[in-house]
Amino acid sequence: MKYADIDWNRLWQEERRQKSWRRKKKKDWDKRANSFAKRTAGSDFSDLLLAMIAPPAGTSVLDVGCGPGTMAIPLARLGLTVTAMDFSEQMLAQLSSRAAVANLETITTIHGSWTDDWQELGVGRHDLVLAARSLAVEDLRGALEKMVAWARQEIVIVDRVGPGPFDPELFAALGRPFEPGPDFVFTMNILFQMGVTPRLDYLEFDQQRRYADRQEAMDGCGWMVDDLSDAEQQKLAAYVDERLSSNSDGTVTLTRSKPVKWAVIRWNVHE
Ligand SMILES: C[S@@+](CC[C@H](N)C(=O)[O-])C[C@H]1O[C@@H](n2cnc3c(N)ncnc32)[C@H](O)[C@@H]1O
Repeated sequence: MKYADIDWNRLWQEERRQKSWRRKKKKDWDKRANSFAKRTAGSDFSDLLLAMIAPPAGTSVLDVGCGPGTMAIPLARLGLTVTAMDFSEQMLAQLSSRAAVANLETITTIHGSWTDDWQELGVGRHDLVLAARSLAVEDLRGALEKMVAWARQEIVIVDRVGPGPFDPELFAALGRPFEPGPDFVFTMNILFQMGVTPRLDYLEFDQQRRYADRQEAMDGCGWMVDDLSDAEQQKLAAYVDERLSSNSDGTVTLTRSKPVKWAVIRWNVHE
């Protein structure tokens, strides 16, 4: 077999079917918008990514799968114009209310999906096209080609490494099998086959997370697993208690054995 004959898009699709959690639809993201917004607000992710990519002043950004504005809000704080697209209306509602509170006026939201016709949605080309933790698509190659077509300069992708935000130790504690599904290796290989040789860096963060109380820590981990039974709730509590320490101000800190790791894949479309 030759490397060029490997159909990475198909391998990606097959691995996606074997992962341990259900594919999230629009309504699942709608339901999680509030808790996701809270969870990401306490994370170091956006500061670390911003420091790494440091977009110059005047850059226009298309943020696909923007969620509650994890990146759109800090980018707008820098004075950049951002088009924030997501297929979840509730995520966009979170973003809009956070932007209003912060008095940010350079974000335009678009209710749309990776698979929509972006031309019909009126999405213009942007200097930087960003997909942060949002490439949960069936046709990965199609999504990458779309990013290339809409980018005037830079593309930045934040992609899963191994378990991504999931903690395999939680699955082990619950006695559930853990299949993380495909990660950045597939994206890199599809890009190589498209003739792109991107820059690859990694971000590691959130090994420790501070929560208001034990219940919040439980919620901060419980999202990883679908449909917890009562017995599993108790196992989740035991997993959390083993990793929890109290702080002098009454808050608690949860320490995982490993940080969360993501790949940052980026390139200039003219190089
Ligand atoms: C894990 S969140 C990431 C949000 C944000 N970019 C971040 O890094 O925090 C994934 C986001 O992608 C959105 N999403 C998932 N599939 C999508 C699709 N097919 N089209 C548009 N948005 C999608 C979800 O609604 C959700 O807001």
